[in-house]
Amino acid sequence: MALSTGTKKINTAVFISGTGSNLKSLIKFSNLKKSPISIKMIISNNPKSKGLAFGKIYKIRKKIFNFNKQEKTEKEILELLKKKKINLICLAGFMRILSKNFIQNFKGQILNIHPSLLPKYKGLNTHERAIKNKDRYSGCTVHLVTSKLDSGKIIIQKKVKINKKDTPRTLANKVLAEEHKLYPEAILKIISL
Ligand code: GRF
Repeated sequence: MALSTGTKKINTAVFISGTGSNLKSLIKFSNLKKSPISIKMIISNNPKSKGLAFGKIYKIRKKIFNFNKQEKTEKEILELLKKKKINLICLAGFMRILSKNFIQNFKGQILNIHPSLLPKYKGLNTHERAIKNKDRYSGCTVHLVTSKLDSGKIIIQKKVKINKKDTPRTLANKVLAEEHKLYPEAILKIISL
């Protein structure tokens, strides 16, 4: 992995599009003394992301980018990330697919969290699909980001039991609670790899 901690914390940017509950758990983790990361920046493609509020609460710089012209926007983001010496990107509910070129610039340094036991249920509506298929377990995965959607190397996974009464919403809540613990664990794991 292209990450090296030394004694300094790894400058990290978190990309969000929505609620930002994973962002919040990552910020709390980064604020621990033992944490290897320091979150320097929150990036969103959506000005209405509720998660942007955490920037204000925790005094972290936030920036919104319009992805309609994705190539141009990604160039601007790359410049900003390089200027701020960001070494790790955590995608946390970020709903845009980054280009091959962008990913190449941060090869092995972009993580994503996905609400299924990959390689099962890549893409959207994972909970609906797991329930519809009568799976007994679902879960969440943290993986490295490559240019193939939800297909990079799996870092860590957590299983969650699906009960008969679960709906996509109750299952999403159960999985989300595990996601909040899993993302920090994944970060600890990659830096020791
Ligand atoms: C999470 O379930 C994550 O796995 C998925 O999008 C959701 C984001 O939730 N990629 P939040 O914005 O972190 O609350």
